[in-house]
Amino acid sequence: MLNYKKILFLNLLIFIFLREVAGSSGGNWSYMEYGGTKKWKYTFHTCTGKKQSPVDIITALTFNKNYGPMEIVNYDEASAQILLTNAGTTVVADLHKDPKAKISGAGLPSVYFAHSFHFHWGSGDGFGSEHFKDGTSFPMEMHIVHYSSTYSNLEEAAHQPEGLAVLGFFFTISTVNNTILQGIIEKFPMIKAVGSNAKVDAQLGMLIPKDITKYYRYSGSLTTPPCSETVIWTIFESTISVSSLQVNFLHPHLFIDR
Ligand SMILES: *[C@@H]1O[C@H](CO)[C@@H](O)[C@H](O)[C@H]1NC(C)=O
Ligand SMILES: *[C@@H]1O[C@H](CO)[C@@H](O)[C@H](O)[C@H]1NC(C)=O
Repeated sequence: MLNYKKILFLNLLIFIFLREVAGSSGGNWSYMEYGGTKKWKYTFHTCTGKKQSPVDIITALTFNKNYGPMEIVNYDEASAQILLTNAGTTVVADLHKDPKAKISGAGLPSVYFAHSFHFHWGSGDGFGSEHFKDGTSFPMEMHIVHYSSTYSNLEEAAHQPEGLAVLGFFFTISTVNNTILQGIIEKFPMIKAVGSNAKVDAQLGMLIPKDITKYYRYSGSLTTPPCSETVIWTIFESTISVSSLQVNFLHPHLFIDR
Protein backbone atom coordinates (compact mmCIF):
# COMPACT_ATOMS: atom_id res chain seq x y z
CA MET A 1 0.00 0.00 0.00
CA LEU A 2 1.25 3.45 -0.81
CA ASN A 3 2.30 5.45 2.15
CA TYR A 4 0.26 8.59 2.53
CA LYS A 5 1.04 8.91 6.19
CA LYS A 6 3.73 11.49 5.93
CA ILE A 7 3.44 13.38 2.74
CA LEU A 8 6.03 16.10 2.54
CA PHE A 9 6.39 18.03 -0.64
CA LEU A 10 8.97 20.62 -1.48
CA ASN A 11 8.51 23.40 -3.99
CA LEU A 12 4.97 23.96 -2.97
CA LEU A 13 2.94 26.06 -5.27
CA ILE A 14 -0.20 27.00 -3.52
CA PHE A 15 -2.94 29.12 -4.86
CA ILE A 16 -4.99 31.07 -2.45
CA PHE A 17 -8.39 31.99 -3.60
CA LEU A 18 -8.57 35.71 -3.11
CA ARG A 19 -12.12 35.95 -2.00
CA GLU A 20 -11.70 37.92 1.17
CA VAL A 21 -10.09 40.73 -0.75
CA ALA A 22 -12.35 40.52 -3.76
CA GLY A 23 -15.42 40.29 -1.58
CA SER A 24 -14.48 43.05 0.77
CA SER A 25 -16.34 45.97 -0.80
CA GLY A 26 -19.40 46.09 1.38
CA GLY A 27 -22.08 43.50 1.09
CA ASN A 28 -21.71 42.86 -2.62
CA TRP A 29 -19.49 40.41 -4.36
CA SER A 30 -16.87 42.33 -6.28
CA TYR A 31 -16.38 39.24 -8.38
CA MET A 32 -19.52 40.11 -10.24
CA GLU A 33 -17.54 42.87 -11.90
CA TYR A 34 -14.96 40.35 -13.09
CA GLY A 35 -16.54 36.99 -13.59
CA GLY A 36 -20.13 37.95 -14.25
CA THR A 37 -23.12 36.95 -12.22
CA LYS A 38 -23.77 33.79 -14.22
CA LYS A 39 -20.90 32.10 -12.49
CA TRP A 40 -22.38 32.78 -9.12
CA LYS A 41 -25.69 31.09 -9.70
CA TYR A 42 -25.00 28.47 -7.08
CA THR A 43 -23.53 30.81 -4.54
CA PHE A 44 -26.64 32.09 -2.90
CA HIS A 45 -29.01 29.27 -3.63
CA THR A 46 -30.08 28.47 -0.09
CA CYS A 47 -28.35 30.67 2.39
CA THR A 48 -27.27 34.26 2.47
CA GLY A 49 -24.04 35.60 3.84
CA LYS A 50 -20.71 36.96 2.75
CA LYS A 51 -18.75 33.74 2.87
CA GLN A 52 -21.09 31.18 1.34
CA SER A 53 -19.89 28.09 -0.48
CA PRO A 54 -19.62 26.71 -3.05
CA VAL A 55 -17.91 29.22 -5.30
CA ASP A 56 -16.49 29.49 -8.76
CA ILE A 57 -12.72 29.56 -8.38
CA ILE A 58 -11.54 32.23 -10.75
CA THR A 59 -7.89 31.32 -11.12
CA ALA A 60 -6.85 34.73 -12.46
CA LEU A 61 -7.92 36.18 -9.12
CA THR A 62 -5.91 33.81 -6.98
CA PHE A 63 -2.50 34.54 -5.57
CA ASN A 64 0.34 32.29 -4.46
CA LYS A 65 1.07 31.76 -0.83
CA ASN A 66 3.44 29.24 0.67
CA TYR A 67 1.43 27.58 3.40
CA GLY A 68 3.75 24.59 3.70
CA PRO A 69 2.84 20.97 3.03
CA MET A 70 -0.40 19.33 4.06
CA GLU A 71 0.10 16.29 6.20
CA ILE A 72 -2.49 13.55 5.86
CA VAL A 73 -2.45 10.69 8.35
CA ASN A 74 -4.35 7.39 8.46
CA TYR A 75 -6.75 7.91 5.54
CA ASP A 76 -6.52 4.28 4.42
CA GLU A 77 -6.65 2.90 7.96
CA ALA A 78 -9.71 4.94 8.93
CA SER A 79 -11.55 4.07 5.73
CA ALA A 80 -11.13 0.30 6.07
CA GLN A 81 -14.46 -1.42 6.71
CA ILE A 82 -16.39 1.80 7.06
CA LEU A 83 -20.09 2.40 6.91
CA LEU A 84 -21.65 3.91 3.78
CA THR A 85 -25.04 5.45 4.45
CA ASN A 86 -27.68 6.72 2.05
CA ALA A 87 -28.25 10.17 3.50
CA GLY A 88 -30.99 11.09 1.06
CA THR A 89 -29.16 13.60 -1.08
CA THR A 90 -25.82 11.82 -1.12
CA VAL A 91 -23.95 8.83 0.25
CA VAL A 92 -21.95 9.55 3.37
CA ALA A 93 -18.97 7.44 4.37
CA ASP A 94 -18.26 7.53 8.07
CA LEU A 95 -14.57 8.07 8.82
CA HIS A 96 -15.06 8.80 12.46
CA LYS A 97 -13.35 5.80 13.96
CA ASP A 98 -9.99 4.59 15.20
CA PRO A 99 -7.29 4.93 14.14
CA LYS A 100 -8.23 8.55 13.67
CA ALA A 101 -7.53 10.03 10.27
CA LYS A 102 -6.33 13.60 10.47
CA ILE A 103 -4.86 16.47 8.53
CA SER A 104 -2.55 19.30 9.56
CA GLY A 105 -0.12 21.83 8.17
CA ALA A 106 -0.95 23.68 4.94
CA GLY A 107 -1.89 26.83 6.83
CA LEU A 108 -4.52 25.08 8.95
CA PRO A 109 -4.69 26.60 12.44
CA SER A 110 -4.82 23.21 14.18
CA VAL A 111 -5.01 19.48 13.61
CA TYR A 112 -8.35 18.44 12.07
CA PHE A 113 -9.87 14.98 12.54
CA ALA A 114 -11.63 13.31 9.63
CA HIS A 115 -15.36 12.87 10.14
CA SER A 116 -16.77 11.61 6.84
CA PHE A 117 -16.64 11.94 3.10
CA HIS A 118 -19.30 12.15 0.43
CA PHE A 119 -19.75 12.75 -3.27
CA HIS A 120 -21.69 15.23 -5.36
CA TRP A 121 -22.70 14.31 -8.88
CA GLY A 122 -25.23 15.19 -11.50
CA SER A 123 -27.07 13.54 -14.32
CA GLY A 124 -24.27 13.30 -16.85
CA ASP A 125 -20.58 13.79 -17.57
CA GLY A 126 -20.70 17.56 -17.65
CA PHE A 127 -22.30 18.79 -14.45
CA GLY A 128 -22.23 17.54 -10.93
CA SER A 129 -19.56 19.34 -8.95
CA GLU A 130 -20.52 21.97 -6.42
CA HIS A 131 -17.52 24.18 -6.96
CA PHE A 132 -16.67 25.51 -10.38
CA LYS A 133 -13.29 26.47 -11.75
CA ASP A 134 -13.19 29.38 -14.17
CA GLY A 135 -16.84 28.88 -14.94
CA THR A 136 -16.45 25.17 -15.60
CA SER A 137 -18.24 22.39 -13.76
CA PHE A 138 -16.84 18.90 -13.22
CA PRO A 139 -18.81 15.64 -13.39
CA MET A 140 -18.25 14.85 -9.73
CA GLU A 141 -16.76 16.28 -6.58
CA MET A 142 -15.68 14.56 -3.36
CA HIS A 143 -15.64 16.29 0.00
CA ILE A 144 -13.72 14.99 2.98
CA VAL A 145 -15.06 16.70 6.09
CA HIS A 146 -12.81 17.31 9.10
CA TYR A 147 -13.38 19.07 12.41
CA SER A 148 -10.87 20.94 14.53
CA SER A 149 -9.22 18.89 17.27
CA THR A 150 -9.82 21.93 19.47
CA TYR A 151 -13.42 20.71 19.79
CA SER A 152 -14.80 17.38 20.88
CA ASN A 153 -16.93 16.59 17.83
CA LEU A 154 -18.22 17.79 14.49
CA GLU A 155 -21.44 19.21 15.87
CA GLU A 156 -19.60 21.43 18.34
CA ALA A 157 -16.94 22.49 15.83
CA ALA A 158 -19.47 23.31 13.12
CA HIS A 159 -20.56 26.47 14.94
CA GLN A 160 -17.07 27.75 15.69
CA PRO A 161 -14.90 29.97 13.49
CA GLU A 162 -12.52 27.72 11.52
CA GLY A 163 -14.16 24.75 13.22
CA LEU A 164 -14.28 22.69 10.04
CA ALA A 165 -11.82 21.93 7.26
CA VAL A 166 -13.18 20.35 4.08
CA LEU A 167 -10.94 18.94 1.36
CA GLY A 168 -12.54 19.04 -2.08
CA PHE A 169 -11.51 17.01 -5.12
CA PHE A 170 -12.86 17.36 -8.64
CA PHE A 171 -13.28 14.34 -10.89
CA THR A 172 -12.45 14.29 -14.59
CA ILE A 173 -13.63 11.77 -17.15
CA SER A 174 -11.31 8.95 -18.11
CA THR A 175 -11.85 6.09 -20.56
CA VAL A 176 -11.25 3.47 -17.88
CA ASN A 177 -13.00 2.82 -14.60
CA ASN A 178 -11.38 4.10 -11.44
CA THR A 179 -10.98 0.79 -9.62
CA ILE A 180 -10.70 2.33 -6.14
CA LEU A 181 -13.89 4.29 -6.72
CA GLN A 182 -15.52 1.18 -8.17
CA GLY A 183 -15.04 -0.59 -4.83
CA ILE A 184 -17.20 2.10 -3.24
CA ILE A 185 -19.90 2.73 -5.83
CA GLU A 186 -20.63 -0.94 -6.44
CA LYS A 187 -22.19 -0.89 -2.96
CA PHE A 188 -24.64 1.84 -3.91
CA PRO A 189 -27.34 -0.50 -5.26
CA MET A 190 -27.35 -2.13 -1.82
CA ILE A 191 -28.30 1.13 -0.13
CA LYS A 192 -31.12 2.40 -2.29
CA ALA A 193 -33.36 3.13 0.67
CA VAL A 194 -32.70 6.39 2.50
CA GLY A 195 -31.04 5.58 5.81
CA SER A 196 -29.80 2.15 4.74
CA ASN A 197 -26.12 1.34 4.92
CA ALA A 198 -23.38 -1.05 3.85
CA LYS A 199 -19.80 -1.73 4.84
CA VAL A 200 -16.97 -1.03 2.42
CA ASP A 201 -13.19 -0.87 2.31
CA ALA A 202 -12.86 2.58 0.87
CA GLN A 203 -9.07 3.00 0.55
CA LEU A 204 -9.46 6.75 0.74
CA GLY A 205 -5.71 7.37 0.71
CA MET A 206 -5.50 5.58 -2.60
CA LEU A 207 -8.48 7.44 -4.04
CA ILE A 208 -7.13 10.95 -3.61
CA PRO A 209 -4.61 12.20 -6.18
CA LYS A 210 -0.93 11.55 -5.54
CA ASP A 211 -0.09 15.19 -6.12
CA ILE A 212 -1.70 17.27 -3.40
CA THR A 213 0.80 20.12 -3.59
CA LYS A 214 -1.42 22.51 -5.51
CA TYR A 215 -4.69 23.69 -4.09
CA TYR A 216 -7.05 26.60 -3.72
CA ARG A 217 -7.76 27.83 -0.24
CA TYR A 218 -10.61 30.01 0.88
CA SER A 219 -12.74 30.57 3.90
CA GLY A 220 -16.37 29.60 3.34
CA SER A 221 -19.37 27.72 4.58
CA LEU A 222 -21.18 24.43 4.61
CA THR A 223 -22.84 24.02 1.22
CA THR A 224 -26.10 22.88 2.77
CA PRO A 225 -28.19 24.45 5.53
CA PRO A 226 -27.36 25.70 8.10
CA CYS A 227 -24.63 27.03 5.78
CA SER A 228 -22.44 27.93 8.78
CA GLU A 229 -19.53 30.10 7.69
CA THR A 230 -17.03 28.08 9.65
CA VAL A 231 -15.29 26.07 6.93
CA ILE A 232 -11.71 26.31 5.73
CA TRP A 233 -11.99 25.00 2.17
CA THR A 234 -9.12 23.38 0.31
CA ILE A 235 -9.89 22.49 -3.30
CA PHE A 236 -7.14 20.51 -5.00
CA GLU A 237 -5.85 21.18 -8.48
CA SER A 238 -5.16 17.50 -9.26
CA THR A 239 -8.31 15.60 -10.11
CA ILE A 240 -9.52 12.05 -9.55
CA SER A 241 -10.46 10.02 -12.61
CA VAL A 242 -13.92 8.54 -13.17
CA SER A 243 -15.29 6.84 -16.28
CA SER A 244 -18.50 7.84 -18.04
CA LEU A 245 -19.81 4.38 -17.22
CA GLN A 246 -19.27 5.06 -13.54
CA VAL A 247 -20.92 8.49 -13.64
CA ASN A 248 -23.85 7.04 -15.52
CA PHE A 249 -24.03 4.21 -13.03
CA LEU A 250 -24.42 6.73 -10.21
CA HIS A 251 -27.07 8.79 -11.90
CA PRO A 252 -30.00 6.35 -11.67
CA HIS A 253 -29.04 5.41 -8.15
CA LEU A 254 -30.82 8.32 -6.53
CA PHE A 255 -28.80 10.85 -4.63
CA ILE A 256 -28.85 13.73 -7.04
CA ASP A 257 -28.00 16.95 -5.35
CA ARG A 258 -29.87 19.33 -7.50
C1 LIG B 1 -25.00 46.19 -3.77
O1 LIG B 1 -25.19 46.60 -5.09
C2 LIG B 1 -26.49 47.13 -5.36
C3 LIG B 1 -26.60 47.37 -6.84
O2 LIG B 1 -25.49 48.07 -7.31
C4 LIG B 1 -26.71 48.37 -4.50
O3 LIG B 1 -28.01 48.87 -4.72
C5 LIG B 1 -26.53 48.02 -3.05
O4 LIG B 1 -26.62 49.17 -2.26
C6 LIG B 1 -25.17 47.35 -2.82
N1 LIG B 1 -25.09 46.88 -1.45
C7 LIG B 1 -24.02 47.09 -0.70
C8 LIG B 1 -24.11 46.56 0.69
O5 LIG B 1 -23.02 47.64 -1.11
C1 LIG C 1 -16.94 -0.12 -15.10
O1 LIG C 1 -17.93 0.45 -14.27
C2 LIG C 1 -19.25 0.19 -14.65
C3 LIG C 1 -20.15 1.00 -13.73
O2 LIG C 1 -19.96 0.65 -12.40
C4 LIG C 1 -19.51 -1.30 -14.60
O3 LIG C 1 -20.83 -1.57 -15.00
C5 LIG C 1 -18.51 -2.01 -15.51
O4 LIG C 1 -18.66 -3.42 -15.37
C6 LIG C 1 -17.09 -1.63 -15.15
N1 LIG C 1 -16.18 -2.17 -16.16
C7 LIG C 1 -15.11 -2.88 -15.81
C8 LIG C 1 -14.26 -3.35 -16.93
O5 LIG C 1 -14.82 -3.10 -14.64
